Amino acid sequence: MALVFHNRFSDSTTTMPVVPFAPPAIGPDEISEVVSTLESGWLSTGPRVRQFERAFAQYVGAPFAVAVNSCTAALHLSLLASGVSAGDEVVTTPLTFCATANVVVHTGATPVFADIDPHSLNLDPDAARAALTPRTKAILPVHFAGRPADVQAFEGMAAGCGASVIEDAAHCVEGVSDGRHIGTTARFSCFSFYATKNLTTGEGGMVTTSDEKAADFMRIASLHGMDRDAWARYTPGASAQYDVVMPGFKYNMMDIQAAIGLHQLRRLDARHARRTAIWAEYDRAFRSLPLALPAPVDAGTVHARHLYTVLVDEATAGISRDTLQARLRDRGISTSIHFRALHLHPYYQERFGLRRGMFPVAESVSDTTLSLPLSAAMTPSTVNRVIEAVHDVLR
Ligand SMILES: Cc1ncc(COP(=O)(O)O)c(C=O)c1O
Repeated sequence: MALVFHNRFSDSTTTMPVVPFAPPAIGPDEISEVVSTLESGWLSTGPRVRQFERAFAQYVGAPFAVAVNSCTAALHLSLLASGVSAGDEVVTTPLTFCATANVVVHTGATPVFADIDPHSLNLDPDAARAALTPRTKAILPVHFAGRPADVQAFEGMAAGCGASVIEDAAHCVEGVSDGRHIGTTARFSCFSFYATKNLTTGEGGMVTTSDEKAADFMRIASLHGMDRDAWARYTPGASAQYDVVMPGFKYNMMDIQAAIGLHQLRRLDARHARRTAIWAEYDRAFRSLPLALPAPVDAGTVHARHLYTVLVDEATAGISRDTLQARLRDRGISTSIHFRALHLHPYYQERFGLRRGMFPVAESVSDTTLSLPLSAAMTPSTVNRVIEAVHDVLR
């Protein structure tokens, strides 16, 4: 079946189509499974969600997986399952998406930022250690851009102070750290299946854990606190009754989403190989330019290759990050910024008394980072257009 992708990002005033930042790689299997789901008569949480959970748990090698409607929901439920509440502290990185810290605020606890390591751009274990207090209930590292954080260091630290490690693996479905798959490297691992992610269901997320009681808690908490979901109640012979055992949330994944996820998972390793090849092409093409490129990873580590981020230091590149981004936009190349450090946003400054100067490494990355287009759906010619445009601007 021939697939026709309509490029919603095309600019009708230019003849060249825009190179989108992260177009989803969707094949005919995803499309026909969604159609079958629509025709099945069961759209919300049901058999495909359960099948996707089992397949995902098997992929990462975790005993339990709970599908939800976002990584944000996965992080929130993991904090609650770890007993994080008002008065507690959660140590995390400022170089992340706001959801990582927003959910800490939702529990009533305080996010405590610690600076990042300049090589990995992940939470620096020494800085995290220095931020621990008797109120620390969880450590929340993010596998930034798909590079596994130092999970061993955080496990040791958490064991020493009775805290839980919750990993924000939104970028890191394929990641492996020292031979261990991400998803088995923390008490709770939280994944995102948002539209731009390596594995997408449009919106969606998953928590993996080896804690069966916590998995049961999260499944119930993700659906209003009801002890039995609709699929379980409508199975022949089952009771149609349910008990509400807690004031839960509306965080459940739908079968329509799981239909996409099942096929995304089957293609994940092939698409990761394509992302890795584009990454290597960028590395070769940009080596001669005055940009700082992503650092290589050690043997035994698999980088999920989610975001190809370059650092644009104006003094070396002769151009600021923002000007480079604007010049690329003029040439039809979409880029993105991951991330403006959280302590530079007004809410975090005002609520927690944070200011510029507190986390200098994160600030320097925040001011200079630019993410280039990366997707398994990119053709060789779009990869070349990105390479030529970057060279053209920096020439
Ligand atoms: C590091 C990080 N954590 C969490 C999230 C939230 O993911 P979701 O949109 O699935 O809730 C994102 C989203 O992009 C992210 O980049």
